[in-house]
Amino acid sequence: MLSQLFFSFLLLQAIQAKTKDDIAPIVLSRTGGFEIGGKVLVNPANPNQTLSCDHDISSPSPPPRRTSLLMWHSSSTQVFQNRWDGGPGYKDLFLSRNYPVYLWDGPRVGRANWARVPLSYTPAYRDQGNFVAWNFGPRLRARGYDEFDTDENVWLHGDVMAVAADSGKLGTDLEYLTNSAGGLRAQLATTRANGTNIKGIVTYESIGYVFPDNIGLKPNTVPGFGPFVVPVEEFKKLANVTAIQFVRGDHRDETFEYVKQSRQVAALINQYGGNAEVVMLGKDKGLKGSTHIAFAVAGVLDEFLERNGLDGYTDEDEE
Ligand SMILES: *[C@@H]1O[C@H](CO)[C@@H](O)[C@H](O)[C@H]1NC(C)=O
Ligand SMILES: *[C@@H]1O[C@H](CO)[C@@H](O)[C@H](O)[C@H]1NC(C)=O
Ligand SMILES: *[C@@H]1O[C@H](CO)[C@@H](O)[C@H](O)[C@H]1NC(C)=O
Repeated sequence: MLSQLFFSFLLLQAIQAKTKDDIAPIVLSRTGGFEIGGKVLVNPANPNQTLSCDHDISSPSPPPRRTSLLMWHSSSTQVFQNRWDGGPGYKDLFLSRNYPVYLWDGPRVGRANWARVPLSYTPAYRDQGNFVAWNFGPRLRARGYDEFDTDENVWLHGDVMAVAADSGKLGTDLEYLTNSAGGLRAQLATTRANGTNIKGIVTYESIGYVFPDNIGLKPNTVPGFGPFVVPVEEFKKLANVTAIQFVRGDHRDETFEYVKQSRQVAALINQYGGNAEVVMLGKDKGLKGSTHIAFAVAGVLDEFLERNGLDGYTDEDEE
């Protein structure tokens, strides 16, 4: 599977070289992956045997800007690698803008797929359902994925990311860029972390939200998608983040359940002194045609980072 993805990527590069999507050459001082927050299982029948599992792996680039961009989808980093038409994705667009970029895989998904619990996977015929859920155009060409959206996994992903954020290994200024249910996990991670490294969250099509426990909300009415309810003192950590933006494509309107939840959560965060906003790409920015998955609204993100002072350089003289 890995070699298949790698091959596709090289192929796209060759084709793209002649298109309007060319971006400035990207210079990297470092690439690769590492693990944070995993656990080691010891075989009860033979303590000499272990299984190291539930890792997270991400790929760093050099840090000329201060804010690290952590790109996080609940199952697949592919949504940040390319647009659906093969054009450059957020990874290349923001590397070329000098941001350190990390592609994040939570435990048990993507490249971090060795679990310490037994898992069973049953293929389901989901392409057609995903086609509708992801708001694609008239042709079916999406490949399915599985993000294991259980309550247990959402908590696990949030907890492991909180450890990773507090560790400082990803930088001391972190901005989460999340797609789909990655937004829920980033909110949860923020409420679980104890440090102050998390500086921003931008969610695209966030499905699932975190609420405080003082508004009488019934938790987890949709397993894996919330509402996740946390103690209000933990919720207030979201108000301490420099800036939060919940972004929606023009295919959504105010009646969509998760738009309603994003409005409610943004208001609660702001009520506790935070800085959260909901951006409707169609109505607020005049941008049409986004889907549920791969977004290409880098200009809106540039503006957000700049407006909130998250675009500075490590060495300000370089700016
Ligand atoms: C575990 O390793 C130790 C030291 O090498 C060895 O003495 C012992 O027999 C091993 N135990 C098992 C169950 O293999
Ligand atoms: C933050 O502190 C709480 C309370 O001590 C602890 O339970 C939790 O595990 C800590 N979070 C992390 C990410 O270490
Ligand atoms: C909020 O952030 C500030 C500055 O980063 C930090 O000093 C403070 O401890 C944080 N408060 C909470 C409740 O996280």
